[in-house]
Amino acid sequence: MQSRQQARPPEGAPVSELRERPTVLRITEVGEEILRRSCRTATEEDFGSERLARLIDDMFATMHVADGCGLAANQVDVDLRLFVYDCPDDDGVRHTGHILNPVIEEQDPGRALIEETEGCLSVPGAGTKLARPARTVVRGVNQHGEAITIEGAGYFARCLQHETDHLNGGLYIDRLSARDRKRMMKQTADRREKVFAERAAKAARLAGAADRVS
Ligand code: NI
Repeated sequence: MQSRQQARPPEGAPVSELRERPTVLRITEVGEEILRRSCRTATEEDFGSERLARLIDDMFATMHVADGCGLAANQVDVDLRLFVYDCPDDDGVRHTGHILNPVIEEQDPGRALIEETEGCLSVPGAGTKLARPARTVVRGVNQHGEAITIEGAGYFARCLQHETDHLNGGLYIDRLSARDRKRMMKQTADRREKVFAERAAKAARLAGAADRVS
């Protein structure tokens, strides 16, 4: 999910023990089939693997370069029920991590909704207000296959819902009226090139900084 401008994580902050410099991956865009797929459930074959650890590192790097606060595996063209996040809640507390096979706990039908601006790295340059439940509980497993539960409130709750939607083949624009959806598609058509240029410039800056350190 797209970050709010004021909530951008500090550049270069360590996110995990990196084995080697992670790779910034291409982010898939609305219209690509993989974003409409219900992704593959992670299994024992995935858990604890170097390949999975590497993918998580690469997804963090990709998310940071794109100024995102959440990123799902099918957004980097990988068919797997996995997302990463680095997202502030409404109290300014930063939440960072990953989850596989996430399932959103059933929500009270009388739950409180909050409306906030939402965007998506796969719909580059677009964003609009959308109402979502103010609190979310997601259950799944970590990269070692151990059960985890993530509770989120405010903007972080929104992120958890948005990323879980991705793994079910959903995009936030599906939750909009036809008119608003059309407006988002117009915005992304107008702004995507600029967003791609910004991402490329930031990737080059970070690569340059890493070269100077190493
Ligand atoms: Ni998204």
